[in-house]
Amino acid sequence: MGLLITPKLLDMLKQMIGDESKSRRLMSLLKKRGFLQPAFEAYGGVAGLYDYGPLGGRLRRKVMQKWLDHWISLGNIVEIDSPTITPEEVLKASGHIGAFNDYASECNSCNSIFRSDHLLEGFHPNPDSLEGDSLDKELGVHKITCPTCKKIDWLPAKPLNLMFSTTIGPSNIGRKAYMRPETAQGMFLQFPSIYRHFRKKLPFGAVQMGKGYRNEISPRQGMIRLREFNMAELEYFIDPLMKIEHDLGQWDSFKLKLIPDPEGNNSEEVLLTVSDAVEMGIIRHQTVGWFMIKTFELMAELGINSELIRFRQHEGDEMAHYATDCWDLEIFGGYGWIECVGIAYRGCYDLEAHQKSSNSNELKAWREFEEHITVEKNICSPIQSKIGPIFKDKCKIITDYLELLEEIPKEFPLKILNDGIEYIIEEDMVEIKEMKITQRGEWFTPHVIEPAFGIDRIIWHILEHSHKEIPKKDDENYTLLGLKTDVAPVDFTVYPLFEKDGMEILSKKLVEKIMSMKGINANYDGSKSIGRRYARGDEVGVPFAITVDHQSLEDNTITLRERDTQTQKRMSIEDLLEFVSEYK
Ligand code: GLY
Repeated sequence: MGLLITPKLLDMLKQMIGDESKSRRLMSLLKKRGFLQPAFEAYGGVAGLYDYGPLGGRLRRKVMQKWLDHWISLGNIVEIDSPTITPEEVLKASGHIGAFNDYASECNSCNSIFRSDHLLEGFHPNPDSLEGDSLDKELGVHKITCPTCKKIDWLPAKPLNLMFSTTIGPSNIGRKAYMRPETAQGMFLQFPSIYRHFRKKLPFGAVQMGKGYRNEISPRQGMIRLREFNMAELEYFIDPLMKIEHDLGQWDSFKLKLIPDPEGNNSEEVLLTVSDAVEMGIIRHQTVGWFMIKTFELMAELGINSELIRFRQHEGDEMAHYATDCWDLEIFGGYGWIECVGIAYRGCYDLEAHQKSSNSNELKAWREFEEHITVEKNICSPIQSKIGPIFKDKCKIITDYLELLEEIPKEFPLKILNDGIEYIIEEDMVEIKEMKITQRGEWFTPHVIEPAFGIDRIIWHILEHSHKEIPKKDDENYTLLGLKTDVAPVDFTVYPLFEKDGMEILSKKLVEKIMSMKGINANYDGSKSIGRRYARGDEVGVPFAITVDHQSLEDNTITLRERDTQTQKRMSIEDLLEFVSEYK
């Protein structure tokens, strides 16, 4: 890992990877061989919806598993799962109803509708950061014509909410809901259970993988802009006052490509070690820097070319409504630089919003003071003769809770949630007292750092970066997918030299034996010449080919061929099975 190549070599690499016709050939290969295809094609297809086929489905699963293993192995991260259908109140509180919009411009002449920022691509350095009036102004300044009728007659840009709406229950009387635009909200609302799981000790994180939905105005760019997509998000909860020390120095041997945004205008790319970038205040939080480097590592392990990764800091008005700092990990490919991961400092935005909107008092964490302090204050104290008979051995929970409130409650009955149990306190159960109390600590709202991954975009770039076209003498290219063994959908293909004399039987037995080994996938392929079959395996990225020939029937040996070097080695079946069992 590292940035070692010269600028000239980097340009050559970008030209090769960014070649549009190569991307088209890749898409047609992926479609033909069962990786990806537009969904519902029999009915004309739907923009922004894609299918993963037999090979793509397994590739997706392996990428997601690797993602999960990478984070869970840190030790203080757990996986959770929550519904994709989300009640309206949740998304009102999170700000998605109101702020989760893209602007659309309608042509007054032919009524075609386009995303306003897409119309300005190539005319403005960052059209995504513009809103209403500024979009209209830029469309005018650059004399942007309607792609359909070629006239210049734009109506004012309008914000359109990106969520798919639905109803829980019958549509006329049901509860209004939306398909989730991010998995994050499910994790914020599970905070109390995760907090208990970690014995109430920060920092810790939760991950969730699953579908997210965005009703894009006019999705283009294949797998890059989908209406239903695979998300993988991590919410890392921290105490903002606690100094967390990450050993960033261990990555000092290489530098990240960063495009910082010091004053609201992305500056030139700089090469910095993560520890220097944190020290210089370019990366504003140590834990954000730590996630940037851990994410960079993961991308390289998945097979993304690390020379083609950069981090771009969001401009102030480009940032999502919940974020106070955000870095996009962008990957270069056939569509240029594309945001594939966003690492955002969300502060206490979401947990506070849900506290206010749901009245939950469980979305907080407890911070113990180093020294206990004594203060005089008006407190809401329970009348023991009233609460005793009702709450019995749980009275202490109620007393502690009420006495630690920062303010006297304004409304009763008051609901207290503790460890998943609800206690209802009526007004006549309490009295207001002036007391000297010893404060052991305080409740506070944890802050959140969120690395959020677009899995489909990452998969697309894994495929683009592993797609090699090797020129051959006869002018035809030899196509190879150099997928890493961790993500290749098929690990071994077994080929009988001919499907006769028992070679096919031994080959099938080998497939069966390999398939019985945990997590390893093998295929049988018996049709056409062996050269054609090797080519078919290389084309879909199978790392190893096993060939069974006449000699195999006599001495129990096979030939193992490696995809990337195309070298072949004769070995006994016993050695082969040992190699397979140690594979990965
Ligand atoms: N949670 C990150 C996003 O919605 O993109």
